[in-house]
Amino acid sequence: MQVEVKKVKMTDDVIMSILEIDKEFYTNFDYSDSSWYFERYSDKNDAFLLVVDGNIVGYFLIVEISKSLYDDILRLKHDHDYDFPPQEWNCKSGCFYIPSVLVKQEYRRFSLPLLERLYKEVQTKNNLVAITVSQEGHRMAEKVLKLVGVANPQKDVRVYGSNLDTSI
Ligand SMILES: CC(C)(COP(=O)(O)OP(=O)(O)OC[C@H]1O[C@@H](n2cnc3c(N)ncnc32)[C@H](O)[C@@H]1OP(=O)(O)O)[C@@H](O)C(=O)NCCC(=O)NCCS
Repeated sequence: MQVEVKKVKMTDDVIMSILEIDKEFYTNFDYSDSSWYFERYSDKNDAFLLVVDGNIVGYFLIVEISKSLYDDILRLKHDHDYDFPPQEWNCKSGCFYIPSVLVKQEYRRFSLPLLERLYKEVQTKNNLVAITVSQEGHRMAEKVLKLVGVANPQKDVRVYGSNLDTSI
């Protein structure tokens, strides 16, 4: 098996590959309409792909977001991100957000290089936040980030951060 992590621009093909991977995990979403993905992502964004024998089987994303959205996430005002307005995305603010980290179930034994790359990317950025919605997400975040707080106790949605130089 050849396992690689590739940093690529989010071209339409990459966006479609990510949509296909998401289908397995984010099941409460209407995938018949892909416009949500194309409104949110473009080749202005980078994706970090886990590629096994030439197939994209996982990815993570880091996006620069507006300072006000970042502040609201830190204030625990958001327990999901699917309705974040596109204009809050790709702002030159020095504030970053991890929208998703996902590896297809049957390829999780190959996750480590992707998680190590995530750790490396996290080290190079200030003001990075993530919202985690699953046990696997919390476990992954505990390895690379620090708990900020619980945004939704009923659903156990948590906010994690790294190198935060803001005082909220
Ligand atoms: C999140 C996800 C990619 C993590 O992958 P995983 O294969 O489950 O990874 P694990 O957390 O089990 O970690 C695998 C190993 O790598 C280690 N590891 C994790 N991050 C690491 C890092 N940055 N550097 C080095 N080692 C790391 C873990 O300690 C673990 O080792 P162990 O088995 O000896 O304990 C995967 O669970 C997934 O796709 N889940 C579904 C989607 C999801 O929940 N996403 C988050 C939504 S908020």
